[in-house]
Amino acid sequence: MESNKIPLTLNYLGESHRLQIVHGQYHSLMSLIADYLAIPGFGLCCGMGSCGTCVVQIASPYSQVKRNVMACGILVNDELANMVILIPDKIY
Ligand code: FES
Repeated sequence: MESNKIPLTLNYLGESHRLQIVHGQYHSLMSLIADYLAIPGFGLCCGMGSCGTCVVQIASPYSQVKRNVMACGILVNDELANMVILIPDKIY
């Protein structure tokens, strides 16, 4: 049975935030993070993948692989299901 929610985890400042996101609720991972966490300066930049202030890591719970991404260019869809989003302590 297919769920209408996307389970994922945001990790920021040593805390894990487990979320269930409704499909279509957010256009990008950046807008989701900006909505859930009060991170000064996050989500207030270009939104077009050119300034680099929204860099986060996406980690699969099934492997050790982490990849750096621009959160503004990542769609919130089933590809993020069960992923852990690692947000750096300092946003530049
Ligand atoms: S907000 Fe500028 S690269 Fe994402």
